Amino acid sequence: MNNKLYISLLAAGVAAIASSCSNEVSTRQSLSSPDGRIQVTFDLTPQGRPCYSMVFSGDTIIRPSMLGFELKDQKPLTDGFKMQSVTTDAVDETWVPVWGENDSIENRYNAMTVALKQGDRRLDIEFRVFDNGMGLRYIFPDQSQKTFEITGELTEMAMGGDYTAWWIPGDYDTQEYEYTKSRLSEIRALSTKDQMGNVSQSVFSPTGVQTSLMLKTPDGKYVNLHEASLVNYPAMHLNLNDTTLTFTSQLTPGRGDVVATVDVPFSTPWRTVTVGDKATDILASNLIYNLNEPCALDDTSWIEPVKYMGVWWEMITGKSSWSYTDATDFDLATFDYSAAKPHGNHAANNENVKRYIDFAAANGFDQLLIEGWNVGWEDWFGKEKEYVFDFVTPYPDFDIEELNRYAHSKGIKLMMHHETSGSIENYERHMDAAYDLMNKYGYNAVKSGYVGNILPKGEHHYSQWAVNHYLNAVKKAADHNIMVNAHEAVRPTGLARTYPNLVGNESAMGIEYQNMTPGHVTILPFTRLQGGPMDFTPGIFEMDLSKVSPNNTEHKRATVANQLALYVTMYSPLQMAADLPENYARKMDAFKFIKDVPVDWSESRYLDAEPGEFIVAARREKGKPNWFVGGVTNEHARDYNLSLDFLTPGKTYTATIYADASDAHYDTNPAAYRITTQQVTSADTLPMHMAPGGGFAVSIIAE
Ligand code: NOJ
Ligand code: CA
Repeated sequence: MNNKLYISLLAAGVAAIASSCSNEVSTRQSLSSPDGRIQVTFDLTPQGRPCYSMVFSGDTIIRPSMLGFELKDQKPLTDGFKMQSVTTDAVDETWVPVWGENDSIENRYNAMTVALKQGDRRLDIEFRVFDNGMGLRYIFPDQSQKTFEITGELTEMAMGGDYTAWWIPGDYDTQEYEYTKSRLSEIRALSTKDQMGNVSQSVFSPTGVQTSLMLKTPDGKYVNLHEASLVNYPAMHLNLNDTTLTFTSQLTPGRGDVVATVDVPFSTPWRTVTVGDKATDILASNLIYNLNEPCALDDTSWIEPVKYMGVWWEMITGKSSWSYTDATDFDLATFDYSAAKPHGNHAANNENVKRYIDFAAANGFDQLLIEGWNVGWEDWFGKEKEYVFDFVTPYPDFDIEELNRYAHSKGIKLMMHHETSGSIENYERHMDAAYDLMNKYGYNAVKSGYVGNILPKGEHHYSQWAVNHYLNAVKKAADHNIMVNAHEAVRPTGLARTYPNLVGNESAMGIEYQNMTPGHVTILPFTRLQGGPMDFTPGIFEMDLSKVSPNNTEHKRATVANQLALYVTMYSPLQMAADLPENYARKMDAFKFIKDVPVDWSESRYLDAEPGEFIVAARREKGKPNWFVGGVTNEHARDYNLSLDFLTPGKTYTATIYADASDAHYDTNPAAYRITTQQVTSADTLPMHMAPGGGFAVSIIAE
């Protein structure tokens, strides 16, 4: 079909749908954002179907879109509704996060709750409209039917046009994909291949995608679709009807045909639409956090941002191993490690761990992650065994008491590692003992992981049952004063506001992943980071991995300056310096930026950005006058004039600039950087050059 014809058919479709949702003037309700630029309209169709739309600055972003549910063995909650009442509210408050990009967050919105009835059954729909977007959620009030068995949520988001999207395919178990940029109408054709040519078909439809989904309208407005406060409910994907350009929610299934069981009273997660005139508006948005509940913990004094190193990259690169022996016929319940012959390549041994502790302590780090410290790594991957790890028994060459003592004597905490291999029931059996062990030895942070298929079979990483596990693990950890950084868990939806001990998640392709394209880091803040921080693990200095591990043929696609910039462009209260001590020791001048950069901030400014192209961000150190700036680009070189007008006028600062050299290139010359120092004021502009796959980092210290 030629493009013009397609667009005009689409326009006709839009008009037809629009007229079917707004006949009954009496049921039509409108709600505007505090600044009046966004209007959300709710209505019941003549058939009693709930329906909403959203206009931003004169542009229809969401065309009339239906709301409702399919239920097991019951009449669906889709039509025949009558409106009972409408209540409105307005909130204007400021809250203080335990850690974050800013030391206070404004939460200002207008709200409307529409109470609906279908026969005896009640369903409310609540809308909140902010200056930069909206959220809607369903509320099942207390009523005679106490339990609803949902087999499908039918929330539509009918797009106002054939927007450009940065998407990853729908998948109930992983977000570890590269993003594809295309028009919505092109997703079907492209969904079988990712940018690397790998097959990446959505598991539920050729047009299925995940959230957070970044979009751009033809006239240059930015739109982001996601969800907030995912509690006791499956994660939502989006399934596109590419004829009408309408998304419908696709909930992650678990065992059986009921995807979500809800007991009244119950509120679903928020379905969110964030909008902005500029790309940086999306990066600066707090809409997802604002739609989460306030902090549920009475005492948060034990929660602290963490900069850490790890006995880790040497295993990721294949230089050494998580396991202690080469045993193949292995059963953890009966295996006798004291009689077994070690293969001699186990990284988490006393001597090696002490070497890392010494380096981390000498360079001002807070913590050291050690993976492969516990028994069971001989046979853990994809085995679907019920009993894979016990999370409490160290390998014979890992003296847990002595290593913690040694670390603490040098001002370093060890970071715990719990790889569950997806066997959630096994983890839950051991979790109390595992957290008790952490308390006993003075650990206050755990990196957990969910590699492989979720057990029990039929559950998925993002199903209601698994979602409940991740949050229970975070709550239980809070009872033990433990911070959590969960890999392969469900992608964040702002729950760190409520449980700020959830200091990190992976839930996307991080630097450990092979062959990541340079542009990936210019998309993540628009997508994955919308819901909360990512343990991306930046800071690779040796891109040629054969230098680390001879059989590794990979070459990371980044320059050293780009890796430094990520500590600023990818906000997280938990930041790793992922490379080996020996690789840092060779470049201590560049390493200084990683040592200096804070992990907690008083204010953040996104100076300029475009998804997939580049991001430039500036942040002020928490409670201090010092600023740190980072810029990253995709595979294209880019020049950027960095105006320092965010500095306090009249003050003098010392700027240290870590920049790509003129001949730097992610592939051929990644370590070509230049470090210069100069005095600056708010009147200065620094001309910055970013190499292909490059970037820049600047520390600006008040004199
Ligand atoms: C996958 C995680 O993302 C990675 O960081 C970890 O080292 C391995 N699982 C082993 O747990
Ligand atoms: Ca992972």
